Amino acid sequence: MTAVKTAMTVPAAPTSEAAPFAIRAERPSDVAAREALLDVCFGPGRFARTCQRLRDGRKPAEGLAFVAVRRGKVVGTVRLWHVSAGGRAALMLGPLAVDPACRELGLGAALMNHALAAAAARGHDAVVLLGDAPYYARFGFSTGKTAALAMPGPFERDRLLAHELRDGALDGVAGMIAATGATVSQPRHDVATARRAA
Ligand SMILES: CC(C)(COP(=O)(O)OP(=O)(O)OC[C@H]1O[C@@H](n2cnc3c(N)ncnc32)[C@H](O)[C@@H]1OP(=O)(O)O)[C@@H](O)C(=O)NCCC(=O)NCCS
Repeated sequence: MTAVKTAMTVPAAPTSEAAPFAIRAERPSDVAAREALLDVCFGPGRFARTCQRLRDGRKPAEGLAFVAVRRGKVVGTVRLWHVSAGGRAALMLGPLAVDPACRELGLGAALMNHALAAAAARGHDAVVLLGDAPYYARFGFSTGKTAALAMPGPFERDRLLAHELRDGALDGVAGMIAATGATVSQPRHDVATARRAA
């Protein structure tokens, strides 16, 4: 298996505020900042999105959660999740988000390229996502193989995109996209509360 670099630096655009970005594996200490960033980027309705149904109660795929950091602050995030796409093992990418103050500097592209390279290096076959085709086409995503796939909730068909990391991985694929990743274990007090309520 190819070694996956856990960190890389991305030169910032040449502004007076120029400072390098680093992309590295997400750490437990990043979670609060990542959630705050997602609140800013997607608003309070983000938990109602159909993609979220594939992440609820699940852990991201091993080694496939990344943050972009600038001057010690989390300014970008991307994660990948195990799914079954019509019975085929695949990854669902999202959410991808960049701090509004750091956009248009190539950070979104750097996060995407880093995440896709890491997924390929770990031997994954394909990545699906719900997103804007005009943005994701540059990374190889299209609707070409997704016409017969479905999501567990409302979605816009022209936003269901896929990218094969192994040629032909999604040939003829059809059916529901379902979460298959490891579940997040309940905190002890929640388990005790659930037992008392049962
Ligand atoms: C989408 C997002 C991650 C892009 O981050 P970024 O760091 O600005 O991206 P990059 O600098 O790599 O790329 C910027 C380019 O993408 C284009 N772009 C950004 N969002 C786009 C979109 N929704 N559709 C089409 N093009 C888009 C920009 O116009 C720019 O184009 P250019 O290269 O021709 O100038 C960022 O805008 C974001 O966090 N948006 C809010 C959350 C979101 O929508 N996430 C994606 C879920 S679908």
